[in-house]
Amino acid sequence: MATSAETASGAAALGRLRGALAAPGGWWDVAPRPGEALGDYLDGARLHWKLLRGGYSMGSSRRGRTLLKLARAAARDGVPGALVDCGVWNGGSTVLLAAGAPNRPVYAFDSFQGLPQPGDRDGEESAGHEGFCLGSEQKVREAFARFAPGADLRVRAGWFEDSFPAAAGEIDRVAVLHCDGDWYDSVLLSLQTFYPRIPSGGYVVIDDYGHWIGARRATDEFRRRVGDHTPLVRADYTGRYWRKP
Ligand SMILES: C[S@@+](CC[C@H](N)C(=O)[O-])C[C@H]1O[C@@H](n2cnc3c(N)ncnc32)[C@H](O)[C@@H]1O
Repeated sequence: MATSAETASGAAALGRLRGALAAPGGWWDVAPRPGEALGDYLDGARLHWKLLRGGYSMGSSRRGRTLLKLARAAARDGVPGALVDCGVWNGGSTVLLAAGAPNRPVYAFDSFQGLPQPGDRDGEESAGHEGFCLGSEQKVREAFARFAPGADLRVRAGWFEDSFPAAAGEIDRVAVLHCDGDWYDSVLLSLQTFYPRIPSGGYVVIDDYGHWIGARRATDEFRRRVGDHTPLVRADYTGRYWRKP
């Protein structure tokens, strides 16, 4: 019979194996999902892999493929509007959106000073993460030069509370909104600013719904407030999206 120490070390090894498989670029993450269209899978998986290897994205393949797929679907279905990425780090997620809808303007919002201080609604796990995820505008531009050279990229550097009002006047409609600001305030402000500009049939993607409690709270509270009860679709353990009715 296994001792408790053996059981604990077996469980830890299993946890490490599970983590390695599901981590960005791990086998489970890279494997196609049931029902995933082959073209979307191949284009998304290849591009995400290059972006991950180049240090342009920290997201998983499943979430990256989702961004490309949704932007492509919005373009195919004629959903009007720009692609808006709130929290871009080094631009990987933004490139994946642009690859799906190459003729749309694509907005990249980020402080390029890392994450702001988390707030009361972000839970204990967020403590000490201020300044994490320090991206660079130069890397964003480099990623576009390498992987989406023809895209209509519009970088808006600064804290969301400053950059959103300045840009909102020029963005009348949003076909795909990607909220990847991690914290409650950042996700809520992204939704408050851009959700009203999404036409019926457009998409909202929340990167951190399953990972950061603040992102989940902001999403749930906002959806309740606007009466949007569309079921969330799972991209992976944390990513969720829905199509606006
Ligand atoms: C997890 S990273 C984004 C990862 C990226 N989407 C990718 O593809 O790898 C989160 C980003 O959100 C930005 N961010 C969070 N809250 C912000 C705010 N209030 N204003 C500006 N940038 C913010 C951070 O600077 C950071 O680069």
